[in-house]
Amino acid sequence: MITLGIETSCDETAVALLDDDRILANMVYSQIEHARFGGVIPELASRAHLEKIDRLTATVLKKTSLSIDKCNLVAVTDSPGLAGALLVGVSFALGIHAQTGIPVTGINHLEGHICAIFLSRPDIPLPFLALVVSGGHTAMYRVDNVGKYSCLGQTVDDAAGEAFDKVGKMLGFPYPAGKAIEEEALRAGAGAGREAVFPVARLSGSPLDFSFSGLKTAVKYYVTEKGKDYSREHRPVICRAFQEAVVASLVNNCAAAAEKSGCKRIVLVGGVACNMRLREALQQRLGDGVCFPPPELCADNGAMIACAGFMRSKLNLLRPPHMDPGGTL
Ligand code: KG4
Ligand code: ZN
Repeated sequence: MITLGIETSCDETAVALLDDDRILANMVYSQIEHARFGGVIPELASRAHLEKIDRLTATVLKKTSLSIDKCNLVAVTDSPGLAGALLVGVSFALGIHAQTGIPVTGINHLEGHICAIFLSRPDIPLPFLALVVSGGHTAMYRVDNVGKYSCLGQTVDDAAGEAFDKVGKMLGFPYPAGKAIEEEALRAGAGAGREAVFPVARLSGSPLDFSFSGLKTAVKYYVTEKGKDYSREHRPVICRAFQEAVVASLVNNCAAAAEKSGCKRIVLVGGVACNMRLREALQQRLGDGVCFPPPELCADNGAMIACAGFMRSKLNLLRPPHMDPGGTL
């Protein structure tokens, strides 16, 4: 079965073709238009998707030497995300349907992130716990099957990736800042001073929820108190201390969720799952039960959306797209 996957929920225009769960092509255009504004500008995102989606799809088809009529299904992200950005992808998918009659299914973006694991581990046993950790979301799900998810905990304020991006902005990194913070933290070196230490939030009433806004504020106070010159000079140590706090929060909650649910398999997905320190710390704490897709399948991409479409079609769970910018899983 050939599935075309389309993802335009935020600032990546992404298109992929799968043959069942095998990737034939997976292309992403990361919108550089937002960097100078320090964050995603919704109107710019919609315009950039509109400008790129047609050519990107043509390139994917050309790369695989397939024509559009060889596709059996078009899977498109329809929730959650920026309304105008989602609208571009959904309209484009419906345009393909109008022209060719190929069925179109709507996919929840978070389900797409979770399904990315089936591309690298098609044999992964169910159930598993999935930590979706990205720029817009931080949530833990118990996955009993494709289409059967229960949320065990989520952020009550900022997403982890959002905290990376906001702290990055304070420290003078361009948007998005996650990778740059990880690289800067490595420059602190193993033996370097540990004078910056930031708090790890623990929510007493709901121990599987996350909170990152206090951490962000703590970095802000630290930088303000120490001053610009000191903060510039000690940026690697600040980045390492911030990253350690985020990692500790995510790892603690994964360990608690594994304990509470009795499920020892943990899948880490979403853009922040590219972070090697997080991968290493999770494996150290939870061992062989931890797995993650390769980095290019953790960040937003079309293959994860196509994969969710393919998996849902096997279970007769296809549904027409319905735009829902605030939708949950
Ligand atoms: O999943 P994604 O591509 O888009 C959303 O659905 O949000 O995630 C993007 C987020 C950004 O906040 C970015 O800073 C973060 O993932 N990110 C990282 C790393 N690479 C990307 N955060 C920490 N360490 C990284 N290496
Ligand atoms: Zn995402």
